[in-house]
Amino acid sequence: TSSHGTGPFIAAIDQGTTSSRCIVFDVDGRIVAVDQKEHEQIFPKPGWVEHNATEIWTNVQEVVANAIQKAGITKKDVLAIGITNQRETTMLWDKNTGEPVHNAIVWQDTRTGALVRELGRNVGQDRFRRETGLPLATYFAGPKARWLLDNVEGLRERAERGDILFGTMDSWVIWNLTGGVNGGVHVTDVTNASRTMLMSLTTLQWDPKLCSSIGVPIGMLPEIRSSAEVYGKAKGGALDGIPVASALGDQQAALFGQTCFEEGEAKSTYGTGTFMLMNTAHKPINSYSGLLTTVGYRIGDQPAVYALEGAIAVTGSLVQWMRDQMGLIKSAPEIETLASSVDDNGGVYFVPAFSGLFAPHWRSDARGVIAGLTGYVTKAHIARAVLEATAWQTREISDAMTKDSGVELTTLKVDGGMTANNLLMQTLSDVLDAPVVRPMVAETTALGAAYAAGLAVGFWPDTDALKANWRRAAEWTPQMDADTREREYKSWLKAVDRTMGWLD
Ligand code: G3P
Repeated sequence: TSSHGTGPFIAAIDQGTTSSRCIVFDVDGRIVAVDQKEHEQIFPKPGWVEHNATEIWTNVQEVVANAIQKAGITKKDVLAIGITNQRETTMLWDKNTGEPVHNAIVWQDTRTGALVRELGRNVGQDRFRRETGLPLATYFAGPKARWLLDNVEGLRERAERGDILFGTMDSWVIWNLTGGVNGGVHVTDVTNASRTMLMSLTTLQWDPKLCSSIGVPIGMLPEIRSSAEVYGKAKGGALDGIPVASALGDQQAALFGQTCFEEGEAKSTYGTGTFMLMNTAHKPINSYSGLLTTVGYRIGDQPAVYALEGAIAVTGSLVQWMRDQMGLIKSAPEIETLASSVDDNGGVYFVPAFSGLFAPHWRSDARGVIAGLTGYVTKAHIARAVLEATAWQTREISDAMTKDSGVELTTLKVDGGMTANNLLMQTLSDVLDAPVVRPMVAETTALGAAYAAGLAVGFWPDTDALKANWRRAAEWTPQMDADTREREYKSWLKAVDRTMGWLD
């Protein structure tokens, strides 16, 4: 640790879809130590995805202890803890015992399809769009909570007695970190709250009418706070006594970590899914092209900053599926080797609509297709189509961003695990016809949470100090000719058409 001096440091906890991590950062935003642990993905039925929240909390405690140990520091060297998390994943727990009442329902889960259609008929798509910035889709948290209240026996009565707390993973982690049944604080931040369909985008408070039309008692909801302020102190564990000073949904954290503080600045994060966010300053901009309007971040008492978002459900998780469910590769990086063994996709297009289609289509009735199969096709072509799927889905989002904002994409700032894949990054630049750049610290999600926590406790003076830390590490420029690009895009869109209409 000598090259990082004696600190102090900031510890960021990233509770993601497939794993939980703790990263220790120094004052230059450099990584001092990382620890990570995967948790089980539970698939009880087609379209259903769950996590065991108790397993997740155990893992969080473990990775925090390990990261501190790997950094060779003690809690005295840590000034603050920042939290970032997979968004929308929903859980309810008993505040007297700390026990989850059910597995957490993961953002990718489609079980609320019927409920969401019913809300569309009874309340109307427009009302949710206007007030929450979100389309009616299975993705968001509020209807998932309603599903639990309707389906776990006796739960609604327990909730009405005031024994049950609602939370996305930020709330669960913060409540446990700050003491759990012994005085844990029940809070969420504006970015996470903006993904529930229960918060008004203009007041930034729970909206009683939205809560009652979705059927979620407002009393079980956490207090909505800014993304950068001290919520409380850790009680017990490796960081006992250290202030918990930030919370942001992971995509908003990445926007922050990429230092997209100016209007029009955008980033795209390649993880389980892919999420492109553009800073739209202090105005929530309505989307007419299938994007989401969301809160980007809010620092303390300052006005909230909004963002337009293109969310893609399945990108990295398609590579995982190829490995775990299909057995076509042994490790995730092998997808690049396999895809590079052929020159093109052999006519194959793979649209991974496993959770329906998110942006810009928002079709819960979509399911995955592999189109264009012939006897010529090998698993290498499929591997190539897997990578191209991520690139084309990004292209659809970037087209929608241009339509909604009137701003042409000049360069795309990228981050996340999949950016280690050079073939994918080159393909991305080719299909976007724009340069793609990656910063030195590709862990921008955790970095964003650390930045927000550091601002809250005065570790960094202001956002300009954070901007000075951003350094370019790699850049890809377009090499595909325009004709090929347009022809391939048409074929992709044809395959997208084939995904729709699989549910009545
Ligand atoms: O909205 C879901 C998103 O927050 C999940 O992110 O990085 O865990 O795939 P990730």
